[in-house]
Amino acid sequence: MGTIPQEIIDRILERVDIVEVISEYVQLKRAGRSHKACCPFHNEKTASFVVSPDKQIYHCFGCGAGGNVLNFVMKYENLEFPDAVRKLALRAGVEIPVERGRQGEGPSLYSRIHEINKLAAAFFQNNLRSEKGRGALDYLRSRGIENQTLSDFRLGYALDDWEALRKYLESRKVPVDMVRKAGLSIESDKGRNDYDRFRNRVIFPIFDDRDNIVAFGGRVMDKALPKYINSPETPVYSKSNVLYGLNFSKRGIREKGYAILVEGYMDVVIPFQQGVKNVVATSGTALTPRQADILKRQASTAVLIFDADQAGEAASLRGLDILVEKGMGVRIAALPKGEDPDTFVRKFGREAFEEVAEKAKDLLDYKLELLLKKFGPRSVGTICDEMLPTISRVENAVVRSDYLTRLAEKLGIHEASLRYEIGKVKPDYSYHYASEARIEGSVRNYRSSEVHLLGMAITERKYFEKLDRELGLGMFKDPAVKRVMRSVGEMYAAGDGDINASKLSSRLEGDEQAKQAFMEGLAKADITEEKDRVLEDCILRVRKENRDEEIKILTIRLKEAQDSRDDAGVRDLADRINKLYKERAHRHA
Ligand code: CTP
Ligand code: MN
Repeated sequence: MGTIPQEIIDRILERVDIVEVISEYVQLKRAGRSHKACCPFHNEKTASFVVSPDKQIYHCFGCGAGGNVLNFVMKYENLEFPDAVRKLALRAGVEIPVERGRQGEGPSLYSRIHEINKLAAAFFQNNLRSEKGRGALDYLRSRGIENQTLSDFRLGYALDDWEALRKYLESRKVPVDMVRKAGLSIESDKGRNDYDRFRNRVIFPIFDDRDNIVAFGGRVMDKALPKYINSPETPVYSKSNVLYGLNFSKRGIREKGYAILVEGYMDVVIPFQQGVKNVVATSGTALTPRQADILKRQASTAVLIFDADQAGEAASLRGLDILVEKGMGVRIAALPKGEDPDTFVRKFGREAFEEVAEKAKDLLDYKLELLLKKFGPRSVGTICDEMLPTISRVENAVVRSDYLTRLAEKLGIHEASLRYEIGKVKPDYSYHYASEARIEGSVRNYRSSEVHLLGMAITERKYFEKLDRELGLGMFKDPAVKRVMRSVGEMYAAGDGDINASKLSSRLEGDEQAKQAFMEGLAKADITEEKDRVLEDCILRVRKENRDEEIKILTIRLKEAQDSRDDAGVRDLADRINKLYKERAHRHA
């Protein structure tokens, strides 16, 4: 195996966070500055497995296992060192120089899996042309896919069979354990053969931007659930690192100067077929920072086009901040209710779709409109709290300043107050664990109560309901807390009693701030006794923080009103401030 230069390894270690990585495998609980869990490497009932974000290492006091993030991935995933490095490199967006294989050594695991995937894709493609693939072909045709598109995207069909693919690959001399490593088969009970992961589904091969097939997505042909299954994480595939269709759309994106970002496989395939050649899909996850990095190499602007449903909205809002943070221009369009890019293009044609993209709203207008709809035009404070962190992420000072001017205008408030407020926003706030220590002292103290309440709302539905009733979710100031609360609310609304933390955490995929708030909240709730009393306390504190903040803002506006001799304004503001002071005195009595 060619050696990987140390500087490459160092760069990877700088960019990945051990807590983030391990928490994808093990549910960590916060314990002071560290995180704890039951050790995944030996059987135990009490948590002696500790992860230190400061030191970027883990250690088990029970079995003695320990090391850095690479050691963890090697041990957990059973990978050789270079393969673990590759896996994390993928995640960190670090390119590893092409290795020169030494004599006597075969190709790397990496390229072996690419080869296996290629064989599998060819097998799936053939199935589609066979008698058994008749139904699948009809299905794809019924969705408007033409022959050229079938072969462009190498669409295929996984037979309705438990071992067709594995047997085929065996006949091509692929060892069983490699089929499994490629994510194509699943280990069965003792003594039984592995079975195929994809069965009786139409297959979308997923490519990296160098045209290697790194994974597959498979769709049912009826209403069965799950609608799609995808390859698991493998040494060559990490779902947060791939944009579906980028290999096909790279050229189109360069030519157009912007990329159209959609959600699903079909939302790439159909527009592409109709001639829209600058589309890529996040494939169901909210846009991740890594996907944004990859996209940024091809385009300076992204146009987000999402379904008009709520999931689309939440996903696009998160995606927005990430793109802005990466210094990309962002515009957003929502399609008419009930349509996604696939159905829209088929119904209304390519020109209409391109027009939607061309007319996409700019970030400020889009987000503001959403917030106004959600909170109403009077909730100026809440709206500012949501807008300012986004605006503060805009790198270009001219654009940022223009946003502030326009926001002030639209909300009917003085620009000076906004400029004062934005000065307090920490743009990188809790995006990374590493920065947490730096900020800890200065974070506005409301956050702690909010996070605590969040934790309780996740662990018990009745607390969530009480909060919703007594406080209203709009009262939360921390945008990340608010985003988690929103997901929590959606999950309770969707019905099944308790909230599954790992489901919630996967809903928050890609939103590190939210994940962090969520984990902190759970940790806090976990160690809380007398929950009811603490809940009351926290509610009071949040109310107080809100009031104090409001007083501050109103006071600034009062001064402005005095300066501009706006008498009516002065009276109104003074009234409101007085009322708040009274309320405050009352509460403290
Ligand atoms: N997705 C997934 N797993 C699921 C559901 C969705 O991976 N169980 C991903 C797929 O990449 C899918 C995308 O999320 O394309 C968007 O999901 P959805 O809107 O439900 O599906 P569509 O793309 O509209 O699929 P179709 O048009 O085939 O119904
Ligand atoms: Mn669809």
